[in-house]
Amino acid sequence: PFSAEGKHFIKLSDYSTGELLYLLDSALEMKNLQKKGIPHPYLSGKILGMIFEKSSTRTRVSFEVGMKQLGGDAIFLSSNDIQLGRGETVEDTAKVLSRYLDGLMIRTFGHETIERFANHAEVPVINGLTDLHHPTQVMADLLTIYEHKGKLAGLKLCYIGDGNNNMCHSLLEGAVSVGMDIAVASPAGYAPNAHILQEVKAKANEMNVSVSFTTSAHEAAHEADIIVTDVWTSMGQEEEAAQRLEAFTPYQVNAELCSQAKADFLFLHCLPAHRGEEVTADIIDGSHSVVFDEAENRLHAQKAILKALLEN
Ligand code: CP
Ligand code: NVA
Repeated sequence: PFSAEGKHFIKLSDYSTGELLYLLDSALEMKNLQKKGIPHPYLSGKILGMIFEKSSTRTRVSFEVGMKQLGGDAIFLSSNDIQLGRGETVEDTAKVLSRYLDGLMIRTFGHETIERFANHAEVPVINGLTDLHHPTQVMADLLTIYEHKGKLAGLKLCYIGDGNNNMCHSLLEGAVSVGMDIAVASPAGYAPNAHILQEVKAKANEMNVSVSFTTSAHEAAHEADIIVTDVWTSMGQEEEAAQRLEAFTPYQVNAELCSQAKADFLFLHCLPAHRGEEVTADIIDGSHSVVFDEAENRLHAQKAILKALLEN
């Protein structure tokens, strides 16, 4: 049920439940082929451009390796080194790069930048993180949960921390779409984007699942199957770090908070993490944590997205 015709991968709510499940299924197939050493050059000769306006370890390496494993290649473009960083417009950059490349991945600040890019690109555009969304990470998260729990629908996921955050927004969209309940706990003033929350609530009604927002971390974590958190200060918010540290301290994911969850809960974090801030070392390095499987799954989930969008 996947129609990639003219499609970008910018936010999860642009895709139907069936399409997301199709991509997860394809990701499992990609992983299986890679683990068995079976070549799968679906994107032979195709080249992905990757524009980064922010730092990256996982996204950069997993996209580049993914393209190579698919028989193609990738070009890393730091915004500092291309004319975009000197003021060439997003529109002109998108049009020019479309003449050389088969697809574009962008990591940027304002979400409207990637929308402008997509509106002017003639090739598929993939969101490698904006201030508002991190959809490829959440595809890896869903894949990881599926592998460890054997299902997605019917599980309860809780997200503790900064609600007005790219990970929280993409988790909201992804979780309800695959039939999971989601509870978000954040301090007052750090609630998820109201427009996104409203859209997710409508989708939740359709899927017969629940979405809740609370300022109580204990309430959100109650009977959860999955606990997720993220950094308290995202890239671009560095000057607010001290104020955020104070606001988020009661929202640390630690053993006491995790005792509210189900006995077999999973802990996820997109990384990079700050041990002793949003999560304690005993949790992120403990037996419930699947953060390195989650990081690995970026590769497999993105190969499925790349194949779906770039294969003719
Ligand atoms: N999780 C994630 O996107 O990591 P990087 O910032 O290292 O790409
Ligand atoms: N919310 C974090 C995610 C990093 C992968 C950030 O935007 O910095």
